Amino acid sequence: MKTITTFLPLLTIFCIILGNHKTVAFDKNLKGNELINLVCSESQTKDLCLKVLTSDPSCTQASLQDLVLISLKVAAANASGILTECKTLIDDPNFDPAFQQGLADCKETLLDAEGQLEDTIAATLANKEHDAQVWLQAALAAIDTCDASIPGDDDILSQQSRAFRHLCNLAISLSKALDSSSKMKPK
Ligand SMILES: *[C@@H]1O[C@H](CO)[C@@H](O)[C@H](O)[C@H]1NC(C)=O
Repeated sequence: MKTITTFLPLLTIFCIILGNHKTVAFDKNLKGNELINLVCSESQTKDLCLKVLTSDPSCTQASLQDLVLISLKVAAANASGILTECKTLIDDPNFDPAFQQGLADCKETLLDAEGQLEDTIAATLANKEHDAQVWLQAALAAIDTCDASIPGDDDILSQQSRAFRHLCNLAISLSKALDSSSKMKPK
C-alpha cells in the first residue's frame, strides 16, 4: 500500500509530462460538435472528453475557448462535489482519528483547488492560457495532497480524486490546444 501511495503522485507527474508532447492546433473557424469530435479524438480520455464537453447545452455553438470553459466548470463542480462529500465524512464520528485528520487536511486542500479553478476560469477569459495551465497544475497538486493525507488507496475520496485528475488533465489539454490555435495566423 505504502509504495503505491508514494508512486501514484509520481505517476501523475510522469503522465502530465508525457501528455505535454501531444499538442495539436485546431482551425479557429471550427465550432460546436465538429470541433468537439476533433478535440476529443485527440484526447487520452475520449469518452470522458465527449461526455464533459457535450454536457453543456451551449456546446453546439462553442468555440475552443468556450470548450475550455465548459471543461473548467465541470471540473470546478466536481471539486465542490468532492468537498461536500469530504465534509459529510468529517461529520461521521465512526472514523478513526487518523482518517478524521486526513479528511480535515483534505478539506483545506480542496478549498484551495476550488479557488485555483476559479483563477483558471478568470485566466482563460483573459486569454492567458499559460496562467490557466499553471493554476490547473496547482489544482492537480492540491488533489494529490488531499489524496495523500488520507490513508488507503481505495477509499471513496481516492476514487473521486482520480476522476477529478482526469477532468483537470482534460482541461489542461484543451487549454494547450487553445494556446496553440490562438498562435496560428488567422485565415
Ligand atoms: C466527478 O466526476 C466524475 C467523472 O465524471 C464522476 O464520476 C464523479 O461522480 C464526480 N464526483 C462528484 C462528487 O461530483
